Amino acid sequence: MTEPADALVFFGATGDLAYKKIFPSLQSMIRHGHLNMPVIGVAKAGWNLEQFKARAKASLQEHGGGVDRPAFEKLCSLLRYVDGDYLDPTTFTQLRTALDGTAHPLHYLAIPPSLFGKVAEGLAQSHCNQGARIVAEKPFGRDLKSARELNATLVHYFPEDAVFRIDHYLGKEAVQSLLYSRFANTIWEPIWNRNYIASVQITMAEDFGVQGRGKFYEEAGAIRDVLENHMLQLVACLAMEAPAGEGEPLRDERAKVLSMVRTLTPGDVVRGQFDGYRNEPGVAGQSTVETFAAVRLWIDSWRWAGVPFYLRTGKCLPTSCTEIVVEFKKPPQQVFGHGTGGRPNHVRFRLSPQVVLALGTRVKKIGETMTGIDVELIVQRRPKDEMEPYERLLLDAARGTSEFFAREDQVEQAWRIVDPILGHAVPVRPYSPGSWGPAEANKLIIGEGAWWNPRLEPDELEKEGVA
Ligand code: BG6
Repeated sequence: MTEPADALVFFGATGDLAYKKIFPSLQSMIRHGHLNMPVIGVAKAGWNLEQFKARAKASLQEHGGGVDRPAFEKLCSLLRYVDGDYLDPTTFTQLRTALDGTAHPLHYLAIPPSLFGKVAEGLAQSHCNQGARIVAEKPFGRDLKSARELNATLVHYFPEDAVFRIDHYLGKEAVQSLLYSRFANTIWEPIWNRNYIASVQITMAEDFGVQGRGKFYEEAGAIRDVLENHMLQLVACLAMEAPAGEGEPLRDERAKVLSMVRTLTPGDVVRGQFDGYRNEPGVAGQSTVETFAAVRLWIDSWRWAGVPFYLRTGKCLPTSCTEIVVEFKKPPQQVFGHGTGGRPNHVRFRLSPQVVLALGTRVKKIGETMTGIDVELIVQRRPKDEMEPYERLLLDAARGTSEFFAREDQVEQAWRIVDPILGHAVPVRPYSPGSWGPAEANKLIIGEGAWWNPRLEPDELEKEGVA
């Protein structure tokens, strides 16, 4: 189906995701001239349209960079509201009425996955699924089995090409720029393989805790919350083969490389929990849910055989930063008697908070001896007026463009990779807030290497008066 959507329906309209992400995206879409269709919120809150508009306003004040008067007025003219229980067929009858005159609604499920099936069924029974697309938020299930069941439910009521699974990492400008760099240049391809690359590291660090989401986090943990989805999508973008073109071939290649990632075993994993997590509201006193995870994974492909990929993520780490470091092999000989020393060459992609591309190389130190120092050639950009991931992805879904959405087979491959390490397969180790997680994580690194801890970038050094 290629027709653009002519109505946006979002379930969970009074919830957290709508408040933090969806209303701000709607305001930005209007500012960019991208939203001109009815926007129908559905929730069970006993609200009316005026209360719903007030919620939208509060969301923009808190999370949307403020209320832009003309954009907000336009948004209010587009907003509709249906109040009702997702288990009650009359909710969907009301929605059908609200959708009269539209042919291609886009239904966004900003609700817990346990309700996806019921809502999809309600949409089908009320014929609101006809000509429609459906957008589902991660997590897509809790493990391989439930992901399969969920996929089966969704595709029972909507064809696969009408199902859009959001992983907001794929909507990030920095992630798309990484993908672009890989395939818009000739310099990477000859060295982007096991002959030159020694290892790959991805760190997704957050310097805050669970921020009042203890109840949600108890059900998830770091592996389900971000490693299985956001981080494996980064692995896919970094390791995939060149696609035949834009669109579906991009999804084919991401799925293909994930299908070659070896299933994790407990020996590949370290789980950690920050001291104090158990005192968070909604968290069990004896919780063994991980707030930190580090894994070593292998891709059994011609390109990547024998190259370890190290992934690490956690809450309450020393900084908030997402960074990829691709480390190259050492030179084969030490030509200079005083030693080549230092670290091997690397490429570093920082995805947030800044977008950085850095090339780590060794240069000669001025002086009589042939000794050197490690330097980085850095290109840096602070995100400015770019589209936020949710805005970008909502727009793509409304246009029926699916290349930056997860496909059923990718989702199932990702769960297959982590399935054996979910739950209590590995003991959880304590770590101090503000540290880089449990010391055991260091043992995952094979050979001489170590984790690259993100350092200050030039703009930060300048701010601190160091540069
Ligand atoms: C979400 C997780 O999917 O991603 C959060 O549920 C996490 O726990 C967030 O903080 C990180 O996203 P971003 O875009 O801030 O890196």
